This record gives sequence, structure tokens and C-alpha cells, in this order.
Amino acid sequence: MLSRRLPPHGDLNALTRALAQRRAEGLPVADLTESNPTRAGLTYPADLLAALASEAALRYEPQALGMPSAREAVARDHARRGVAVDPDRVILTASTSEAYTWLFKLLCDAGDTVLVPRPSYPLFEHLTQIEGVRTFPFTLEYHGRWEIDFATMQSAPEDARAVIIVSPNNPTGSYLTPRELDRLLALCRDRGWVLIVDEVFADYPLDVRAPLTDIAARADVPAFTLGGLSKTAGLPQLKLGWIVAGGPSEACTAALAGIELIADSFLSVSTPVQVAAGQLLERGATIRTQIHERVRANLTVLRQNAQSFPACEVLRVEGGWSAVIRVPAMLTEEQLILELLHREGIVAHPGYFFDFPREAFLVVSLLPPLDVFQDATARLLRFASS
Ligand SMILES: Cc1ncc(COP(=O)(O)O)c(C=O)c1O
Repeated sequence: MLSRRLPPHGDLNALTRALAQRRAEGLPVADLTESNPTRAGLTYPADLLAALASEAALRYEPQALGMPSAREAVARDHARRGVAVDPDRVILTASTSEAYTWLFKLLCDAGDTVLVPRPSYPLFEHLTQIEGVRTFPFTLEYHGRWEIDFATMQSAPEDARAVIIVSPNNPTGSYLTPRELDRLLALCRDRGWVLIVDEVFADYPLDVRAPLTDIAARADVPAFTLGGLSKTAGLPQLKLGWIVAGGPSEACTAALAGIELIADSFLSVSTPVQVAAGQLLERGATIRTQIHERVRANLTVLRQNAQSFPACEVLRVEGGWSAVIRVPAMLTEEQLILELLHREGIVAHPGYFFDFPREAFLVVSLLPPLDVFQDATARLLRFASS
């Protein structure tokens, strides 16, 4: 009965099962995978959502690409990073995940290929498969920083339609550099690839000077940058994301007309969140600042803790909300995370969740409250070193 687009599902992984059991037994858990900002002990102003109740939101006048006032608000928000974005090139979506699926519908026929980074965000496998699209992974290699291995990118199949870049990437934290962008644009021109850049974490630079952002606005090939309230203002529950279209104007006009058709079939962005978008983006700055301070402080603590455990290495984190720790491969990653949970009550992600090419890596979220993070990472590092 079910289509072959559905990824395998139904079986819980070993970590999820072990965690559910531990919670059912009422045992304590220090969760170093928490990436939901609304559960990270941040202070959200009590009246932050007041703008959603505006009387203007009582009228329903759907516009496929989004209300002009909300598209202008998103364009204004980009000016914060020093980039001029034309509101006519902004498309509103309910989330970045939805933005991906609209772009796959726009660019790919069933069976076409898109290039995705490895290691990266595991949702790509699902988002592509549900759209009937194949993935071809290109590798990020760590040489003191994570860099694109262009040889793997060049071996992509002829039918590849688009290349996805996540900048900064989740979980490696690496931004695309200007040199990488030049090589990438040359490949896009040569192969006819469209460039899709997920910049949901672009507002959280860490170990980086002058990070490159708003890449679609700088591209001379058809390109799309993705962003959303979920990360930029710590408001995933409001369901507002966006696509900024860039590149040559003829291609951009054609893309906007195509997306308009797709968006018009769903009209998925609620009116209240569009009415409130300007205020949410402005006031969301207080949450963004708290998140940025939190991830910076936790990264400093992690580095300090790691000094006592030279067998573990905290890899460079240029930006984002997570850190990667290389740990001795005495156990498999799966054994290690299950033992960590069982003996120390700590949950961390294994590298294989993100398709790291080899073992052993642990990925920790930098969002948890400082006291929880400090204690749990010290114990994690001791455990992984023993
Ligand atoms: C790199 C990346 N892109 C997109 C998303 C999804 O964002 P949204 O909540 O806007 O769908 C996530 C969520 O963690 C992410 O890590």
C-alpha cells in the first residue's frame, strides 16, 4: 500500500530505546543532544508573541510567495548582515525543511540527483527520498578545519541538478570560504548545477573571522539561500522560514514563477506569523543574543574541560550550535553512546548519525544550560578517555 518514497521507519534506534527505558525508570539524564532552543533555559519575553494577535491577522488574503510586508521584513533583516536583498526575491515557507522540498519540486524530476555534504544534517536523506530525489554525497575533510573535497564533488553523476551547501554546516560548524565559493560557482557554471545554501546557523559565528553569508545574493548562477525564525530567532514553533533567490535575473524570474505555482498549491504559511514577522524578527534579537552567548560560553567550557583529557580533541567550530569531539576508538560509537547513557546518564550523538566517514566522533549540542553542559562534558571526556 505504501509508496517506495517512504524512508525505512518504525524501528527505533538503540539510543532512542535505551533513553526511553532510562526515562521510564525515572533515572536522571543529562541531554547533550538538546537542540530545541525553547527547552534550553533561555528567557523569552512574555509578550513576544503579542503581534500574532493583531487584528490584521483576522483577514485571510492568501499570497503564494508571502505577504509583501513579511517579505520586506525578511529583506530588512538581511541588511543586519550588510546584504541588500530585494523583497521580490524572498519566498516565505513554513520551515527550512519545507523550503528544501519546494526547491526539489522546482528543480528535480523523479530520480534526479542532488549533491549533499557528508558529514551533515541527517534529514536530507528523508527530505530527498520523500520527493523521489537521489542524493550524491560529497565529502568534507578535516585538516584543522572542515574543507570540501572537490574531487568527490567532481565525480557527481551527469544528471545532478543541484548542490546543497550548509554554511555553517551542522554538525561540523564549517562555513563555506570565499575560495570554496569560487570553485563551487565554477563547477555550477560548468555542470549547470543550481546552488542551494542552507544558512540557518549563519547568525552564530564562533571560531571564524569575517564569515561568508547570504551566498545566493553573491552568486552569478541560479542560487537559493535558506533561513528561518527557527534558528535566527530561536522560534521553531512559529513555523516561518524563507528562501532568497539569487543569480541571473532571467533564471531568477523563472524560478520565482515556478515556486509561486508550488507555494500556491499549499499556502502553508499562516497569516498571523506573516503579520507578526517584522516584530518577531526585530524582537527575536534578544533570543539570538542569548543563544550566541550560550554557545560561545559552552564551547569555551568544553575546550577547558578537554585540556585535562588529551586523548580527546574538540574540533574547530566556526559556527552553529554543535561541537564535534574526536574520541579514542576503543569501543564502536554505538557501544560508547550506550555505555555513556547507562553508566553516566549522558546522551550524546554518535558521529555515524551524521554520516562521518570513520569512527569515533561524538557530537554535542552547545545549547544546554551552562551548569548541565559543564558537568556532563567533563564526565563524557573522562569516560571516553578511560
Ligand atoms: C542545517 C539545518 N537546516 C535546516 C533545519 C531545519 O530548520 P527548520 O526548523 O526551519 O525546518 C535544521 C534543523 O536542525 C538544520 O540543522
